[in-house]
Amino acid sequence: MSDVIIRSTGLWTPPHSISNAQLVESYNAYAARWNAEHAGEIERGEREAKQPSSVEFIEKASGIRSRYAIDPDGILDTSRLRPKVEPRPDDALCLMAEAGVVAVKDALNRVGLDGGDVDGVICSATSMQRTYPCVAIEIQDAIGATGFGFDMSVACSSATFALQQAVNAIRCGQANRIVVVTPEITTPQLNYTDRDSHFIFGDVAVAVILERADWGNPGWKILSTRLKTQYSNNIRSNQGFLNRCEEPARDEDEMLFVQNGRRVFKEVCPMVAEMILQHMGDCGLTPDDMKRLWLHQANSNMNRVIAQKVFGREYADAEAPTILDEFANTAGAGSVVCFHRHNDDFETGEKGLICSFGAGYSVGSIFVERVAA
Ligand SMILES: CC(C)(COP(=O)(O)OP(=O)(O)OC[C@H]1O[C@@H](n2cnc3c(N)ncnc32)[C@H](O)[C@@H]1OP(=O)(O)O)[C@@H](O)C(=O)NCCC(=O)NCCS
Repeated sequence: MSDVIIRSTGLWTPPHSISNAQLVESYNAYAARWNAEHAGEIERGEREAKQPSSVEFIEKASGIRSRYAIDPDGILDTSRLRPKVEPRPDDALCLMAEAGVVAVKDALNRVGLDGGDVDGVICSATSMQRTYPCVAIEIQDAIGATGFGFDMSVACSSATFALQQAVNAIRCGQANRIVVVTPEITTPQLNYTDRDSHFIFGDVAVAVILERADWGNPGWKILSTRLKTQYSNNIRSNQGFLNRCEEPARDEDEMLFVQNGRRVFKEVCPMVAEMILQHMGDCGLTPDDMKRLWLHQANSNMNRVIAQKVFGREYADAEAPTILDEFANTAGAGSVVCFHRHNDDFETGEKGLICSFGAGYSVGSIFVERVAA
């Protein structure tokens, strides 16, 4: 059984992003129009007026300042409030595969590899744009990889859960070098008429190349992985293949992302901190061994609570960085995007933790150590 390293990571972002100010302006114009259209009902107390959104609230409550988006124009257009996506012919790369391939090639190029050097592709993301064939197999074909490909999904823990599957497959000798790719096209899943959640998501794709450690390449040794789930309805999407058969038909809004953010905050923070500390202790590690925590990127206040519990002290921003200001919540990709952006300064032997958490509830924790060739 070989140990496993992360050899490289890669990223794709859409070319355009949306600031909080742009998003709030668009929402407030929509809300004012809606209130005018429903003025009679609001006056009679039959409906509640829509309250305005605010940049200050978003930044304070979440740490989010902007988000990359596949189609800012469609999202900001108050008569549409959703990205516009052109249908593609079946023989063209689908949107998720296209984003994923860029991230995978970025990861491969950074270490002088190409797709032919890969013998497994796992595509793991919050939602897949179609049921079959697997997006992973399309990516496998597009990069010229051998072996196998499959899709999986564990909401905001999609990447970490997939990393554990890749580690296990390499350890067991089922593959030698696997790409885990997480194309998160999340902006179509938001209800832009809901001020509680219209600011949350951004689009991104991130890829991780894992390989046998006994090949002796530099990278990040996987010291240990652990997964945990506990059922909760507090973050939910009812989108699925039964929607078109349901009678009575659901409101479209019911198929989009909904959450009870306060409950999530209260329940998930202790669950995550406890799991990290337990996992750390079981590995014979202490908080002092951790140079950095690359935490899931949903909310900067949540990360502050968790990091403080884990370190057991006040900590510097660099010890648990956030990328929310630029990317917003990128669902299953967030902790790995954070790792990708913030790992250049590690010396051989220094250790850190990649940890995701979110809908399910689900938590994935992965301890890594920088290794030289
Ligand atoms: C969603 C979240 C940012 C909201 O922050 P919060 O501090 O809990 O805020 P609340 O939802 O309690 O709202 C506080 C007030 O601001 C209001 N508000 C909500 N959205 C607003 C907006 N866009 N602009 C202005 N005010 C807003 C609320 O209506 C509420 O008003 P009230 O006090 O009069 O009832 C936060 O709960 C969170 O991040 N939770 C965890 C989310 C998470 O990790 N999800 C995983 C998803 S993958």
